[in-house]
Amino acid sequence: MTKIRATITGVHGYVPADILSNADLEKMVDTNDEWIRSRTGIQERHILKGQGLASSDMGVEAARGLLEKTGTSPDEIEVVICATVTPDMLFPDTANLIAYKLGIKNAFTFDISAACSGFLFSLNTAVRYIESGAYKKVLLVGVDKMSSIVDYTDRSTCILFGDAAGAVLLEPSQDDETGVMDAILHSDGIGAEHLYQAAGGSLRPATHETVDAKQHYIYQNGRPVYKAAVMYMTGVVQEIMKKNNLHPDDVAWVVPHQANLRIIETMARMLDFPMERIMVNIQKYGNTTAATIPLCLWEWENQLKKGDKLILTAFGGGYTWGAILVKWAY
Ligand code: ACO
Repeated sequence: MTKIRATITGVHGYVPADILSNADLEKMVDTNDEWIRSRTGIQERHILKGQGLASSDMGVEAARGLLEKTGTSPDEIEVVICATVTPDMLFPDTANLIAYKLGIKNAFTFDISAACSGFLFSLNTAVRYIESGAYKKVLLVGVDKMSSIVDYTDRSTCILFGDAAGAVLLEPSQDDETGVMDAILHSDGIGAEHLYQAAGGSLRPATHETVDAKQHYIYQNGRPVYKAAVMYMTGVVQEIMKKNNLHPDDVAWVVPHQANLRIIETMARMLDFPMERIMVNIQKYGNTTAATIPLCLWEWENQLKKGDKLILTAFGGGYTWGAILVKWAY
């Protein structure tokens, strides 16, 4: 029996209109444009403003555009998966809220929490649903409203993050030549001490004390995370290339999580991969966590050709990291 392969048949993104520039941040914390650009590559990021707007609203925008451009009716969607660390609420799941707002009535839904690797972890899950033969249309949304958990008095983190959403549709491949070919994912709880949101969960439920101690914001010890990101992202890309007998010349694009331009450049050097074939848009959006990879795919969609080999790779809180090999289908 031939194996059913899953393939990405459409991608769409959403970025909120309001921009937070490095110049804006200079007025908020002791930082400067030169430091931010040279240490991170970021020039500006987009922020979702407005009362009552949350991650699900950005996810809805990305998913609605995706359904329209792929000619998919909400009734056809069978599974909705949302990758996020900034759900609207701890429960119900944000995927459920997105489905409800879009009129998706025939699907089951759930969220996946794997920080900046969330999109890859969710993509692998979506792929398995398709490969099982049980489902034919899976909607995957990567979204984060990072501004809701960023401390805008902490210069070491507030310069990094932005808000955005990306969505992809997964369907069975029409041929054996295109689709998601391989996935390697890893987790290591050793990273938990360096990158976390301390309060709001069952360990430290919200109290006046946790709020006063700013424990509902992101904490990051940047240097160990930086080193681990370079080492593990480079390593897992090498791992997937070796496993699939690929040389850098065989790969059309590397699509890395956008956390820091220096991380991406160092990885490219170590892989001997030219920057011209690495998708980079961190300068415009900063780190949008689960949204970075689908946002890249959306922006580069018109340049992709059927059969192009792409390696998607990410590293994030947990630690979590991985690489997925895709042969583009359209
Ligand atoms: N403006 C000016 N100076 C600053 C700023 C700022 N915004 N932030 C920090 N500094 C200072 C520090 O205080 C420090 O000063 P000191 O030398 O006097 O002590 C100096 O700059 C260097 O600080 P470092 O933290 O060592 O700076 P570094 O070069 O490591 O850059 C950064 C920090 C950008 C956070 C980097 O460590 C990084 O990118 N880390 C990895 C991020 C990542 O990949 N995260 C995972 C994904 S996120 C997720 O999963 C949710």
